Amino acid sequence: MDQYLKEQKAWIDEKIYTKINEFTSEGRLRDSIIYSMKAGGKRLRPMLMKATFESFSDSDPLYVSPAVALEMLHTYTLIHDDLPAMDDDDMRRGRWTNHIEFDEATAILAGDSLLTMSFELISSDPSLSSEQKVFIVHQLSRAAGPKGMVAGQMWDMQYEDLETDVDTLKRIHSNKTGKLIAFSIITGGYLAGLEEGKLQKLKEIGEAVGLIFQIQDDILDVTGDTAKLGKATGSDESNLKSTYPKLLGLEGAKQEKQKYERRVEELLGDLEADETPLADLIGYMSQREY
Ligand code: IPE
Ligand code: IPE
Ligand code: MG
Ligand code: MG
Ligand code: MG
Repeated sequence: MDQYLKEQKAWIDEKIYTKINEFTSEGRLRDSIIYSMKAGGKRLRPMLMKATFESFSDSDPLYVSPAVALEMLHTYTLIHDDLPAMDDDDMRRGRWTNHIEFDEATAILAGDSLLTMSFELISSDPSLSSEQKVFIVHQLSRAAGPKGMVAGQMWDMQYEDLETDVDTLKRIHSNKTGKLIAFSIITGGYLAGLEEGKLQKLKEIGEAVGLIFQIQDDILDVTGDTAKLGKATGSDESNLKSTYPKLLGLEGAKQEKQKYERRVEELLGDLEADETPLADLIGYMSQREY
């Protein structure tokens, strides 16, 4: 798995840097964008899209620009998530957060650039048909916008220091993290040409993987190793965040995660995809230590 992850990361990194140079001009803004994109991100979302496509199709790769766009958009969410007005964190991907290394205004603008660039990238890709572009842009804007990631981030802050229940927490996590992860899997399946019924199952897999991922992120904020994670642990506790370990305890959080892992196994079985790169990557993601 380690070798696979290394190869996939090298593949996506090369595409990312080429696209940034193409879509930005020299100067401080580009420097700050590259600073955050070059730091040690795991690149799991583009990997998921590619692995999903490859699990269901062996035709020419169509996922390149959507995968790069998703990683850009995800990096924007991290830059803004770390701002003093949000989680106020100093470390990200093993280095100073963007607003510490540059300044708040630059960090906001680097985030804005990555968000808009992601849509420019998809809509200008000559290898996608107009229909594919509209589908992908529509899915991505919904997943990232005020009925998706942005809403989740709003609730994440509104629920600081408030009592929550599992349903509320699920709603927050599904939106702030789950929808972009689901987007990566749905888009991989869509570009692989899967029919509607199978795409629906993939969507459910994506949503469950998104929850698994954020529950593990909450667990790692308590039990993880800062050096491996590249970000400070204990951030949730100091921000009074509502998290799975806080609500259910560490054991309870792990059990909740296992519930979704079992559902994913079932759905992968329905799709006859239990021995695919997608299944392997999901298995790795739910056990990750960073
Ligand atoms: C961190 O995402 C933010 C969450 C949604 C939990 P990742 O753990 O994928 O961060 P990078 O991209 O590897 O830095
Ligand atoms: C972040 O959740 C979700 C998004 C950035 C959309 P967290 O606030 O838990 O992510 P980390 O722990 O800072 O990476
Ligand atoms: Mg946050
Ligand atoms: Mg945070
Ligand atoms: Mg976190």
